[in-house]
Amino acid sequence: MTYENRHVAQHYFTTDPEVASRPAPVRVSLRGLELQLQSDRGVFAYAHLDRGTEILLRTVPDPPDGELLDLGCGYGPIAITIALLAPSARVWALDVNRRALELTARNATAVGAANVTAVPPDAVPDDVAFSAIYSNPPVRLGKAQLQALLRYWLSRLQPEGVAYLVVQRHLGADTLAAWLAAEGFGVLRVRSRQGYRVLEVRHGATSDHHGDRDS
Ligand SMILES: C[S@@+](CC[C@H](N)C(=O)[O-])C[C@H]1O[C@@H](n2cnc3c(N)ncnc32)[C@H](O)[C@@H]1O
Repeated sequence: MTYENRHVAQHYFTTDPEVASRPAPVRVSLRGLELQLQSDRGVFAYAHLDRGTEILLRTVPDPPDGELLDLGCGYGPIAITIALLAPSARVWALDVNRRALELTARNATAVGAANVTAVPPDAVPDDVAFSAIYSNPPVRLGKAQLQALLRYWLSRLQPEGVAYLVVQRHLGADTLAAWLAAEGFGVLRVRSRQGYRVLEVRHGATSDHHGDRDS
């Protein structure tokens, strides 16, 4: 498998966090769901639901069936919400952080989301193509590595597939949108709120990546 970002996460994100585990509950209350998930130290968004993740989950349309992807699942709030909204779909929850993957798997089981598969990125079979991708991506990887990561996974969208990315404006959401458009993707900013952008990304289509005020 030509998986150029296999090494990408090693610089910033730890495969095995050294910080001692101390699970903390997080309440996820949106889209008619009332979930109690466990977070942990050494995993993104300890003891809370990230604001960007919440905005993403409140913005995206009901997910399609088929193969869905949560790129960078953390403790699993995106993968699990999407899985419960689309029980016939299979949701691949990927992370390089093993503690995150274990949490996501346990959280999915605890809330009855049996259609979540939490695995490292290189465990996804090469022939899987996604009908939708959801991500609060690891922007702190740095520009080149984030671009490599997104280039790889967005190339695995089905022809009619769609990706939704949430990125903070001050962490480069508009620059990322412009880069995606330059790569030949269609990019629409479908929400701009509290400093976050939700980008809708498709294979070649109309782009609208200019910045504007929050709404
Ligand atoms: C901004 S966090 C989002 C976590 C979770 N989806 C949430 O919303 O709380 C990004 C996640 O991407 C993961 N990550 C970093 N590099 C990655 C890579 N190369 N492939 C997949 N996930 C990666 C990080 O470990 C982190 O959990």
